[in-house]
Amino acid sequence: MRLVGLIPVTFAAMLLAACGGEAPKPAAEVAAVPVPKLEDLPAPYNTADVVRGKEMQGRKCGACHFLQASRGNQVGPNLHGMFDRGVAKAAKYNYSPALKAFASPAWTPELLDQWLLSPDSFVPGTAMRLNGITDETERRDIIAYLLIASRE
Ligand code: HEC
Repeated sequence: MRLVGLIPVTFAAMLLAACGGEAPKPAAEVAAVPVPKLEDLPAPYNTADVVRGKEMQGRKCGACHFLQASRGNQVGPNLHGMFDRGVAKAAKYNYSPALKAFASPAWTPELLDQWLLSPDSFVPGTAMRLNGITDETERRDIIAYLLIASRE
């Protein structure tokens, strides 16, 4: 009888719904990826100045983004695990329709480079208000720092 088989499934679905089983993973649970060393990063990031990257990240991103898993979202989403969780996947963050519809499933250093050069023209309609970073070396340093620090 088909009905008999359906009952446990329905019950399991109810249980899942009751304990929020469909909610996205909190940022803190994403970090299954080992923290890379500078020399393990792909070129040109393996020759970046991550000390400068950290400083620039603090200065240009820190007002809107937390990077540590233990902290939540700010004006912008938490960036912990940002390369490993998929685009627009920070828990409990209300993304713009533009970023939710972004064509790539995940952030790569190359995509992030274009995003930071000009968020508005790369993802028209995004809610991220950042004057593009035109200095290529500065973008490289910030991205290298993020590739490491977003996994710590
Ligand atoms: C004025 C606030 C602000 C600043 C400054 C800012 N951001 Fe953002 N950022 C946002 C907002 C808001 C979003 C969400 C955009 C959306 O939903 O369209 C976002 C989204 C992002 C995302 C996408 C995250 C995801 O989960 O897919 C990345 C990556 C990002 N920002 C990186 C940076 C970096 C790196 C810097 C510094 C160079 C920076 N942001 C500076 C507000 C900011």
